[in-house]
Amino acid sequence: MLYPIIRQALFQLEPEKAHEFTFKQLKRITGTPLEYLVKQSVPTKAVTCMGIAFKNPLGLAAGLDKNGECIDALGAMGFGFIEVGTVTPHAQPGNEKPRLFRLVKAGGLINRMGFNNHGVDNLVNNIKKSHFGGVLGINIGKNKDTPIEQGKDDYLICIEKIYPYADYIAVNLSSPNTPELTTLQFGEILDDLLQAIKDKQTALQEYHHKYVPIALKITPDMTESELIQMADILVQHNIDGVIATNTTTTRELVQGLDYGSQPGGLSGRPLQLMSTKVIRILSSELQGKLPIIGVGGIDSLMAAREKMVAGATLIQIYSGLIFHGPRLIRDIISDL
Ligand SMILES: Cc1cc2nc3c(=O)[nH]c(=O)nc-3n(C[C@H](O)[C@H](O)[C@H](O)COP(=O)(O)O)c2cc1C
Repeated sequence: MLYPIIRQALFQLEPEKAHEFTFKQLKRITGTPLEYLVKQSVPTKAVTCMGIAFKNPLGLAAGLDKNGECIDALGAMGFGFIEVGTVTPHAQPGNEKPRLFRLVKAGGLINRMGFNNHGVDNLVNNIKKSHFGGVLGINIGKNKDTPIEQGKDDYLICIEKIYPYADYIAVNLSSPNTPELTTLQFGEILDDLLQAIKDKQTALQEYHHKYVPIALKITPDMTESELIQMADILVQHNIDGVIATNTTTTRELVQGLDYGSQPGGLSGRPLQLMSTKVIRILSSELQGKLPIIGVGGIDSLMAAREKMVAGATLIQIYSGLIFHGPRLIRDIISDL
């Protein structure tokens, strides 16, 4: 109800400043009676996915809470699951500012944050302090200064450190803002990476007596045949889930708009149909062999339903939350 007014004020600020301001307030109210300001009750819509029980199928997509600083406040908004990260082995500042842009008319965002984060150890400390009762996913990436040939090591370091604290792990190979990262999604380098990840998962399962599913997060910027190959390799390697999709580097739908030609990844409504198409192709190839987590431009109940009809078992939002506020969470979960 209040969000249109809050949004008007927040949209006066530069996008990243608005994010920082909001997080500061969320941190301030966490654990105090003021937490009720963001608390929403939502109906239970239980779903099991990757062997995990979710209270409802709507989650927060990666990138909003990279360091796990506001898990409890975001959880209070009603999400069935929260994906923190992307986190890398070491802290890194990310790209130069400005690196986040609102395309208000299109309901989209362009970002080239570049995995700005405080590192995996800091994230683990924050998770230890949180009390969120829903499912926690941890999204991992590689440091910018790690050569791409050694990227695998960064993923393995992160998996080892987060394994005891994650309900599932999301391996992010699809951010367009880390040089060469998306090349990890193809051919032998992908095969080798997935093999190493699965071996690490098996070893850690034995050690911790706990199986933590691993999902791969992919780009929408693949051809149909590349997607089909991706689906097949995920099945071959027994990957537990696929998150489709990350942001796009294409700009067809935002040409001529303010900030429309900024480099980076485009999210929000302009991405909606593209990511739904990816889900549809994956779903028809996978035939239920592994679940799809659908993300990209969900800004309404209808858009959420479209993702599920296309084949997603779970869904996530990021940009929709910026444009529509926490009410979107309740609207989606209530009628899904
Ligand atoms: C500012 C911003 C930062 C993001 N950072 C990450 C990230 O660190 N890791 C990741 O996997 N996805 C990241 N994403 C992508 C989102 O998780 C999501 O896949 C994408 O935005 C599409 O969903 P949406 O249209 O609901 O925003 C980011 C998106 C935005 C807008």
